Amino acid sequence: MPTPILQTDTGPLMHKAVEEATRLLKAGEVVALPTETVYGLAADALNPEAVAKVFEAKERPSFDPLIVHLPNKKALDQVAEVPADIQPVVQKIIEQMWPGPLTIVLPKKPCVPDIVTAGLPSVAVRVSKNAVFRRVAEALGRPIAAPSANRFGSISPTSAGAVAAELDDRIPLIVDGGACLCGIESTIIKIEPGSPKPIITILRPGPITPDDLKVYGKVKHASRTVVDEATEAPGQLASHYAPRTPLRLLSKPEDFIPEPGKRYALMSYRGDVEDGYTGLTEWVHVQILSPGKGKLPEAAVRFFYVLRELDGLGVDEIIAEPMFEHGMGIAMMDKLRRAAVKH
Ligand code: TXA
Ligand code: MG
Repeated sequence: MPTPILQTDTGPLMHKAVEEATRLLKAGEVVALPTETVYGLAADALNPEAVAKVFEAKERPSFDPLIVHLPNKKALDQVAEVPADIQPVVQKIIEQMWPGPLTIVLPKKPCVPDIVTAGLPSVAVRVSKNAVFRRVAEALGRPIAAPSANRFGSISPTSAGAVAAELDDRIPLIVDGGACLCGIESTIIKIEPGSPKPIITILRPGPITPDDLKVYGKVKHASRTVVDEATEAPGQLASHYAPRTPLRLLSKPEDFIPEPGKRYALMSYRGDVEDGYTGLTEWVHVQILSPGKGKLPEAAVRFFYVLRELDGLGVDEIIAEPMFEHGMGIAMMDKLRRAAVKH
């Protein structure tokens, strides 16, 4: 049986979808919900049996912890113990950044089951800005554990259709909230005391950029090398976000020499001939992330969609143009490097 998809584009449809999603979550089931970043596969975070179903549907290894989504900022105290020495900076950050695509790793309270945090003493928390998600979270009145609604290691879904392609038959409901606003997963940070400023370490780059964070403290990057799997965000394996088709990230156009008989597709940043990539070979297909001038937030919105489209073509290799490594380009380049790692 294909998974039912409930629409939310009118008031009554939204009401029905929120009600049904909340009913299933209360019953210990999993539901795919839209967030502003990517679609999440949600379960009641305080119900270990429900959370186990998330791992099962995704075929996710148990060492990879989940993000806990709170109904509102005030609920932080229910799941996390904010250390006194970072209390002021945490307060300031959540005041200004929540709801939004920023996840903070903090010491966990005992009520958070080990299955959620993969046995870690910390929990990753955020408040989603998506209207549908927030309504469900408020109606449930409990924290929601939700990883991206894709099979483990695969491309994150940014539409209800993409969730269906990943998890159809495996889950009882998908709520369709349209395309995701950001298109890439939340930025994950941890915060430590420091003098003169607190230290903010980016464990996973995302829509909230180092520039956005530098007003709150000294911004550091966790391991930027994709070969290092022992990062502090344990799910950040080198081979994450992988399309099934091999992917190669170029540094410059001259690095690409097509092999005879092979079929290639191009993931282009702005599709401009002057960049030197679109004319390199007879591409089977070219997908442009941000046509025209090239805007990183626009590219981010289309990023996983384009990757999924290219992956569906059955070509021998996907060739990706590099992007500027600032702003949201940091997260996309990080993901492309991970996708390019051979399994
Ligand atoms: O935007 C997002 O964050 C989306 C939406 C659905 O909210 N969720 C998401 O979840 O990307 P997921 O499961 O694909 O990534 C969660 C990652 C883990 O793989 C791990 O890297 C990090 O969050 N994480 C979770 N708990 C952690 C912890 N206690 N310490 C460090 N990293 C943690
Ligand atoms: Mg994921």
